[in-house]
Amino acid sequence: MSITVAPITPSFVAEISGIDLAQLLKPGDRDAIEAAINHYAVVVFRGQKLTDAQQIDFSAQFGPIHSSAQRARHTGIKHRLERTELADISNLDGDGKVLDANARRRLDWLANRLWHTDASFRAIPGALSLLYAHVIPDQGGDTEFADLRAAYDALPDSTRKQLEGLIAIHSIWHSRGQLDVDRSRYTEQELASLPPVPQRIVRTHPGSHRKTLYLAAHASHIEGMPVPDGRLLLMDLMEHATRPPFVHAHKWREGDLVIWDNRCTMHRARPFDTTKVRDLRRVTTRDVASTLEQAA
Ligand code: OGA
Ligand code: MN
Repeated sequence: MSITVAPITPSFVAEISGIDLAQLLKPGDRDAIEAAINHYAVVVFRGQKLTDAQQIDFSAQFGPIHSSAQRARHTGIKHRLERTELADISNLDGDGKVLDANARRRLDWLANRLWHTDASFRAIPGALSLLYAHVIPDQGGDTEFADLRAAYDALPDSTRKQLEGLIAIHSIWHSRGQLDVDRSRYTEQELASLPPVPQRIVRTHPGSHRKTLYLAAHASHIEGMPVPDGRLLLMDLMEHATRPPFVHAHKWREGDLVIWDNRCTMHRARPFDTTKVRDLRRVTTRDVASTLEQAA
């Protein structure tokens, strides 16, 4: 069986079928998947059966994996997943029980409900994220994706000119601060371990050579601009980029694996009854360098 790439939306999301991701990929299939990601930015595989190790092995064929081996956050708690290449995108504690409403890890995880792109708060940010669904609640909990290339294309020339060369400062503490005022939930060590980093607001996507916005809830202000002006500009751009024409909602089924390209998209989780289990696990590959060292 050979793989089929079928558009779900004309130019943003595609479904790839005819492939078992638990098996090592044939080189031609790997390249076809990469080409589909470069063209669409979000690709969906249905009905996969993957162990944690198989998800990691599949992901490793698309780049070096960001691991939490030198964990800076959530230290000193029991972790459910053994492999440090996996981010636990569930509402479960170390023993597999649904997190209490006030559990620190739950409050931190709620920041996934803000529009963001993974790891833009790291000097070398995320490239691809590969999220696999183990358990999905009956209602809610979609993931929405925004196409930042299409959002860039739709900007007026004057705004594109205004954005040329601008650099935003990203910090995980900025996104957390939008939901929670209590910084004392984090230790001094945690706060110091992830200092703010600069990222371009407009970049050229290396795989498609398309210009794209690069935005996230982590983006706090703009270098060389008064903070309120920069923040308002970022808020306007976020509002623009998440208008319905640029957004697609993925309705999860168990066994779905979705890959998105963090370099040219944003995403957010939608609400669900968090007393019900939702268990997804994510691998994220590392970009090659800071956006400052890549094409504007
Ligand atoms: C993520 C993420 C959204 C969701 O895995 O990076 O933001 O719907 N997930 O769980
Ligand atoms: Mn995310």
